[in-house]
Amino acid sequence: MMKMNLLASVLVAAGFTFVTSALAGNYLADRHAQWDVKCAQCHVEKVPSKAPKMDKCLRCHGGSYEELAKASTGKHLNPHYTHQGDKECAVCHKGHKAPEFFCNDCHKFKVQVP
Ligand code: HEC
Ligand code: HEC
Ligand code: HEC
Ligand code: HEC
Repeated sequence: MMKMNLLASVLVAAGFTFVTSALAGNYLADRHAQWDVKCAQCHVEKVPSKAPKMDKCLRCHGGSYEELAKASTGKHLNPHYTHQGDKECAVCHKGHKAPEFFCNDCHKFKVQVP
């Protein structure tokens, strides 16, 4: 019985992954589109070719790294206040592909970047 339940939940989890990845996409920019954020609110160029600079993101997210970090305190690790200084957001947050937690070039934090 235990085994059956385990198998069932594994199948459900696998099915869910399949369904979400089969949709148009669920990367950060896709989610922003659902929240009515237009390309040009992140990108300055008419035809985007590179990552938006942090000032674009901060316009909607707290206004400064300091405020952003305040909103993130209380979690096990504050990714917005570190010994690496104020990095470009897109070092970790990607728009159209999987995010990267660059801190783990050196560390082994179990952290999920949205
Ligand atoms: C025009 C406003 C706007 C801009 C510009 C913007 N965002 Fe957002 N962002 C939102 C809204 C609205 C949400 C959803 C509500 C919330 O979580 O605050 C959101 C949510 C998020 C989240 C939480 C994601 C999630 O899935 O829960 C992250 C991370 C994020 N934004 C990062 C960024 C980054 C990085 C940039 C720049 C590349 C950016 N945002 C630019 C409006 C914006
Ligand atoms: C070092 C990697 C890294 C950088 C650089 C970074 N973030 Fe994040 N961000 C994270 C991680 C990790 C989380 C998830 C935090 C958690 O869930 O504990 C996060 C969460 C967020 C969220 C969701 C709300 C929250 O605080 O949990 C927003 C909004 C956000 N980041 C915006 C930004 C913006 C805007 C920038 C640039 C000014 C930025 N981030 C730079 C790693 C980063
Ligand atoms: C939440 C902010 C955000 C929104 C909205 C957004 N992007 Fe992006 N975009 C990014 C980030 C961050 C990168 C850099 C990382 C990456 O390539 O995913 C990027 C990179 C790109 C690139 C360059 C890809 C490369 O190969 O380097 C293109 C092209 C692009 N975006 C097009 C668009 C278009 C078209 C839209 C509207 C449909 C859009 N973006 C909406 C954040 C955003
Ligand atoms: C180039 C390698 C490197 C990168 C990248 C890096 N760190 Fe570190 N980090 C270190 C070293 C070296 C130390 C000091 C030795 C130790 O305590 O492990 C340290 C220490 C720390 C500490 C404990 C000491 C303190 O100052 O509080 C934390 C927490 C930390 N890093 C978080 C981060 C976060 C978050 C990121 C990403 C924004 C990051 N690190 C990126 C190398 C790195």
